[in-house]
Amino acid sequence: PETGCLSIIVLGASGDLAKKKTFPALWNLYRQGFLQSNEVHIFGYARTKISDDELRDRIRGYLVDGHGASTDDLPQFLQLIKYVNGGYDSDEGFRLLDKAISEHEFSKNSQEGTSRRLFYLALPPSVYPSVCKMIRKFCMNKSDLGGWTRIVVEKPFGKDLDTSEELSIQLGSLFDEKQLYRIDHYLGKELVQNLLVLRFANRFFLPLWNRDNIDNIQIVFREDFGTEGRGGYFDEYGIIRDIIQNHLLQVLCLVAMEKPVSLRPEHIRDEKVKVLQSVLPISYEEVVIGQYEGYKDDPTVSDKSNTPTFATVILRIHNERWEGVPFILKAGKALNSRKAEIRVQFKDVPGDIFRFCSGVKQGRNEFVIRLQPSEAMYMKLTVKKPGLEMATIQSEMDLSYRQRYQGVTIPEAYERLILDTIRGDQQHFVRRDELKVAWEIFTPLLHKIDDGELKPLPYKPGSRGPAEADKLLEKAGYVQTHGY
Ligand code: BG6
Repeated sequence: PETGCLSIIVLGASGDLAKKKTFPALWNLYRQGFLQSNEVHIFGYARTKISDDELRDRIRGYLVDGHGASTDDLPQFLQLIKYVNGGYDSDEGFRLLDKAISEHEFSKNSQEGTSRRLFYLALPPSVYPSVCKMIRKFCMNKSDLGGWTRIVVEKPFGKDLDTSEELSIQLGSLFDEKQLYRIDHYLGKELVQNLLVLRFANRFFLPLWNRDNIDNIQIVFREDFGTEGRGGYFDEYGIIRDIIQNHLLQVLCLVAMEKPVSLRPEHIRDEKVKVLQSVLPISYEEVVIGQYEGYKDDPTVSDKSNTPTFATVILRIHNERWEGVPFILKAGKALNSRKAEIRVQFKDVPGDIFRFCSGVKQGRNEFVIRLQPSEAMYMKLTVKKPGLEMATIQSEMDLSYRQRYQGVTIPEAYERLILDTIRGDQQHFVRRDELKVAWEIFTPLLHKIDDGELKPLPYKPGSRGPAEADKLLEKAGYVQTHGY
């Protein structure tokens, strides 16, 4: 690993994302020994006029509970944080920031080392271009001893293909692709990272993972709360831009892509791009959008809002492996549970000889990967019902992480991704061409919704979403399975 001075600069330090995700992730990395006090310094930058101590007080409350581990080191960690106040297009602010970083580097580099500068933009994308220009102009690593400058950006990367491309061109004119880390935090989740291992290290799955054996695949995200204070942001974007076009599509890539040449980030991302390029234009017959009742009561949401808070969208991949298999992407807010999972449903057994035993058709095999909560993988399968009769039932083979890996702490997505950035590993970040194809897939549908040509169906908060979505699922071939 590289050594030398490491400066982590959190821009938008007083905002929600920084408080809830970025600083807690840094704290967890610190207490696990990944950030060394003699090398690292953390800078918060924002427009709010506050002191170092005020920033520390603001974030302290968010740092205590992660992993339930000891907080004895907390004061030392907080002392590593300095605050610089300034605007997002202010020469003066960024000069000051550079001065603060350089002073820190000067003091720590007395023993020699490189200078590493990681800028984390916990900011709305509208200010990315100006902030990036300022970083480029004033704050790049200047050390003769080597090192780097890296920029971490958060979605939403634009609102459609054109705006995203415009942003990519702007950022691309300032930084190399190697310096840009586009975070999709779903790529940092344990069971998402497990997908490659699962698919390509198990002989079980290799011959089954295709259209000959799989009937349909669902990738589902549910939340049991509404937009809660984020109505303003959400109403502008909606569930497809917020969850499906990025988080669920990234998961789809890992489920559907071909085996990469190696684990090198470029090899993996090449395969992800290929599978996205094979997605056919979305058929509007295979889309259901919904909006929960009461959504428009939020004062930050327009009374006439056509924004979906729920969507089921079927994607079809036109290649040898997946022709004819529906990939059902479903996401919703204010539903009956909080869960994210992948459900791979296999085809019926041909020539079923057990159909008369129980008087019912055999249940289908289904392989479920639960990303959260309580990470697990389980396989639904048919077994003989224990007892004297020859009857069959559906049961489960279950790998629940909490039971199997007792005592192992599963890292937070952000922790992992920040560490990857420090290490320069771009495997779990979205490449520019990947982003472009992702927008190509969804832009026509998004425009149709924005233009009011597709209207969201109402659903009750706390429900499964609009009943039409279940009908669409059935039509796509999904069969409800039961296990006990
Ligand atoms: C974010 C979305 O990207 O992901 C939020 O903007 C959503 O709307 C969140 O709540 C869900 O993340 P997680 O990790 O809790 O599933």
